[in-house]
Amino acid sequence: MMRKGRFDQPAAELAKRYSESVSFDRRLYDYDIAGSIAHASALARAGIITADERQKIENELRAIQKEIESGKFEWDRSLEDVHMNIEAALTKRIGASGGKLHTARSRNDQIALDLRLYVKAENAKLSAGLRLLQSALLGLAEQHVDLVMPGYTHLRRAQPILFAHYLLAQIEAFERDADRLRDCLVRTDVLPLGSGALAGSIIALDREFIARELGFSRVSQNSVDAVSDRDFVCEFLFDLAMIGLHLSRLSEDLILWSTSEFGFLEFSDAFSTGSSLMPQKSNPDMAELTRGKTGRLYGNLMSILTTMKALPSSYNRDLQEDKEVLFDSVDTVRAALGVFAAMLPELKINRERMETAAKDPNLFATDLAEYLVKKGTPFREAHEIIGKLVVHAAHTSLPLDQVPLSKMQSFSPLFDVDVTKMFDIRLSLAERRAIGAPSPENIAAQIEHWREYLASDD
Ligand code: ARG
Repeated sequence: MMRKGRFDQPAAELAKRYSESVSFDRRLYDYDIAGSIAHASALARAGIITADERQKIENELRAIQKEIESGKFEWDRSLEDVHMNIEAALTKRIGASGGKLHTARSRNDQIALDLRLYVKAENAKLSAGLRLLQSALLGLAEQHVDLVMPGYTHLRRAQPILFAHYLLAQIEAFERDADRLRDCLVRTDVLPLGSGALAGSIIALDREFIARELGFSRVSQNSVDAVSDRDFVCEFLFDLAMIGLHLSRLSEDLILWSTSEFGFLEFSDAFSTGSSLMPQKSNPDMAELTRGKTGRLYGNLMSILTTMKALPSSYNRDLQEDKEVLFDSVDTVRAALGVFAAMLPELKINRERMETAAKDPNLFATDLAEYLVKKGTPFREAHEIIGKLVVHAAHTSLPLDQVPLSKMQSFSPLFDVDVTKMFDIRLSLAERRAIGAPSPENIAAQIEHWREYLASDD
């Protein structure tokens, strides 16, 4: 219908198929309709349509919405996009008044509006999904609050920690993600409608009114910027990529710890897959897929950044390429968060294996150096002494805690009978009292903090 005036020739079928977007942007229909209803109200206030026409438009748009929801609406690819499909259906049903709806509006500000409403809604849903994941991690921490394990650096046993400390570390990372989403919302929550194609319109609508109707906190201040701006999509895709990054790290830890070699935990059968060939296998595919899907999330971020690079100001059709990557990242992260929130509470934790691994006396080598420091040895010297002691123990095939005191004293006269206490993991953990360190008291306080935080509304 928009070709009627300007063109003699219909568009080539090939060109239509190439440029249509309704096959994927139809999922914005809710926001498109909400935007149109608010726009119609603004047109009525400006005297462009009558109160009666406004009501007709609203009623019919709501009817169309119901039809779409029930799957009865007939989408027509030849009508290009979600906007034209809905407008055409409206006009077909109510005639000329339907043709007034697009006054002082362009699809350029319309799509910017739909996309912002979509990102706002998905931002809220993903934030809720993050909370559920954090609650699942917290549940595990509460359940295993006293469970010790080796902490690793370079995947080598390093120093003792509590399993709960590891879980709380993941909660911290996901809270930064939630924080990023809150921050992204500030810049998403801006009304672009009323910017027209790029230069507004000689029919001035009350944009503050439209913003209130649609629940936007602010109104865009420059019409050229408003139709160009996809910063909020870029930011959102970055935020989703970071969630993926954190999920991939958690996935990798769980996959590794579920190997026979570690045996720290098992995935429940409900979240494991079998092998088509090897009857004994139970594979951690949910975690592997999540690790893998993170690549897609990065790809989607690169895609939007590359689409936006050096695009001329104002609207360009390239911008249509923002949607599929956005939808894909949203769907991917939403599914991954859901799977993890359901899978984590079902993890079978092999406490014995973790505790046995945490008994490795080498985990306390740093504590031994700090023991000497407390008795006056400079740390670098203490580090060297303990290094030599570790080598001696290995050469004589003695665990570090079995080296006789007299022998230890040949490395440093400051070793005393109290050194045996240094291999007690509970005592070692209890000493780790500084903010952020894994003393049981700190862990209990952190669990309490997160329990209250996650139970609160915000
Ligand atoms: N499908 C388009 C998009 O996603 C809608 C806006 C089209 N505007 C235009 N002037 N062709 O960006």
